[in-house]
Amino acid sequence: MVHKQDPTATYRATFDRARQQPEAFWLEQARALDWHTKPTTALDYDGKAQWKWFPDGRLNITYQALDRWVAEGRGDQPALIWDSAMTQQQITYTYAQLLDQVARFAGALRAQGIERGDRVLIYMPMIPEALIAMLAVARLGAIHVVTFGGFAPKEVATRLDDAKPKALIAANGGLEPSRAVRYLPNVAEAIGLATHRPDVVIVKQRDEIDDTITEFDVSWLDFDEQLSTSEPVDAVPVAATDPLYLLHTSGTTSKPKAVIRDHGGYAVAAAWSVPNIYDVAPGEVMFVASDVGWVVGHTYIVYAPLVAGATTVMYEGKPVGTPDAGALWRVASEHGAKMIFSAPTAYRAIRAADPAGEQWQRYDMSNLTTIFSAGERLDEDTYHWLGTVTGKPVVDHWWQTETGWPIVANLRGLAPMPLKAGSPSVPVPGYDVGIVNPLGEPVEQGTEGNIVIKLPLPPGAMVGLYGEPERFHLSYLAAFDGYYETGDTGYIDDDGYVFVLGRSDDVINVAGHRLSTGTLESVIAEHPAVAETAVIGVTDGLKGQKPVAYVVLTADADISPEQLAKELVAKVRKDFGAVAAFRDVDVVSALPKTRSGKILRRTMRSIVEGEDVAAPATIDDAGVLDTFALQATRWES
Ligand code: COA
Ligand code: AMP
Repeated sequence: MVHKQDPTATYRATFDRARQQPEAFWLEQARALDWHTKPTTALDYDGKAQWKWFPDGRLNITYQALDRWVAEGRGDQPALIWDSAMTQQQITYTYAQLLDQVARFAGALRAQGIERGDRVLIYMPMIPEALIAMLAVARLGAIHVVTFGGFAPKEVATRLDDAKPKALIAANGGLEPSRAVRYLPNVAEAIGLATHRPDVVIVKQRDEIDDTITEFDVSWLDFDEQLSTSEPVDAVPVAATDPLYLLHTSGTTSKPKAVIRDHGGYAVAAAWSVPNIYDVAPGEVMFVASDVGWVVGHTYIVYAPLVAGATTVMYEGKPVGTPDAGALWRVASEHGAKMIFSAPTAYRAIRAADPAGEQWQRYDMSNLTTIFSAGERLDEDTYHWLGTVTGKPVVDHWWQTETGWPIVANLRGLAPMPLKAGSPSVPVPGYDVGIVNPLGEPVEQGTEGNIVIKLPLPPGAMVGLYGEPERFHLSYLAAFDGYYETGDTGYIDDDGYVFVLGRSDDVINVAGHRLSTGTLESVIAEHPAVAETAVIGVTDGLKGQKPVAYVVLTADADISPEQLAKELVAKVRKDFGAVAAFRDVDVVSALPKTRSGKILRRTMRSIVEGEDVAAPATIDDAGVLDTFALQATRWES
């Protein structure tokens, strides 16, 4: 029974239904889509590591996102509004125009031999062609692998070798406030570094970037020419369980994990979440200020707004400096956005530049109902500031690349429950969230522990790691029988609100970007003067966390700490990417370790953050810890 007047009761009834009768619940939600073959079964679950949603259904998510709306008379409605603060351009694509572009580019890809199941790597900045390329790949039943534009060639090469794409689609560059980022040298270098070579490279040449095709050892094509000369193709119906995309994310080792997302479950979750979580109806406007290279961009810039018949705003620019701290408010206001969604770091940057919120007052924000935040914990200070200067509800919600859509949220459409500072609110229907101790036993309400989700995960969440079933099991399923391990710690209060406190592993979060300390360590360790290193994330007032490397020199190293720091900062920038925002190196004589040789990163972090630390029982040599405490720089946020 739905209690319209009482959001908490409505939430509870919906959550319980999804928990008690998941198959009936999701089959019902699946009816919102226009299937090629309607599913008769919701779930095929082996009781352990494999779950398949809508196993006998067939569809193509781009049909849901485009063709269907044109067929239903929304052809003239804006589907995509591109707003570039970097070039002062705005372009609107109606549903009919976007469908045409996507269908034509899919035709171009088919002419290059791209078929169902083939992988295509996309390395592009925030331009409409990135979205067109993603949807065109999906239209053929092929699998896209988007690589964030801020990554360096080595990271692109890693993804080339992992996904073995037949084609690579790139732009000649992106625009950062301080510089134009030329992508083509990166692409050329990545192809040189990788073992796998794509058959073809397709390049969107932007006029603003002073760089055209250089020396490629593979054949390349011009994006615009392909688009203008190709015939449109229909969406290829695929199994609901077919992979739609791979998205790499940081794990605890240097090799990123390729999360697999499917067509059907993802389409159902996208269609359900837009009205129920974001309170956006067909024809309304969503402004998600993230990047297509991240999961937030995949789901809520590209797929979900379109699957739900809304208008998506794609923004090329920053929250501050392009040109000022009113940039996000301007975009939301000009395009009549009903909601805005960005990361806490963006809101903190706005606050630092405009503490009184004067920019907000410059714009007509009457269409905007809600400000969403995710990517890292929304600190209470920023939460209160944002609410005060805007007068709008500020909604934190928690999710991961792996889940693809929110795990815990305040469901603004379904049941706008009271908000609590410091908590992303309550588990979303479909996610049976619990807190367990290291033995996997449920802890008491209010007690901190590992946040877990009862298996199977709901539609839209990951179904595996590409080519690595064993790693999938070890990373997520092995620790707590019957549960997915989120890697986050937190607690649930008496009202059922979840508080997410931080990671239990070696993953750090810099400006809303999830980074593996292992990856940074492996880059740093390659320097000849480095015998050993540990990278930890220390609290940063703007970016949430920043990476700091503690380095032990080799016996014969002949380099000053200043010079080493300079070289390591440059190396990380070149081999990983500017996005690591890596600037801090500290030389120490030894790293504290356990008797089994594991570096005590948590203890190190507590020390440098000025917390009281007792030597752990497992420590190998307490003297090393004392020396580290004397040598290491203390960081104040
Ligand atoms: N391509 C190339 N370089 C990029 C890039 C991209 N797509 N994105 C960032 N970079 C570069 C930046 O130019 C910067 O380089 P610099 O060291 O030469 O200045 C570096 O990577 C670090 O970037 P970032 O940490 O993002 O800092 P910033 O100063 O550019 O911007 C914020 C700060 C807060 C505005 C920005 O981090 C932000 O908007 N974050 C939101 C993150 C987000 O959307 N997360 C997704 C979850 S919602
Ligand atoms: P990513 O996979 O890049 O989206 O990063 C996911 C991780 O970011 C989570 O596991 C959390 O550690 C962190 N995170 C994302 N959103 C939130 C949030 N709202 N509150 C706290 N942590 C968050």
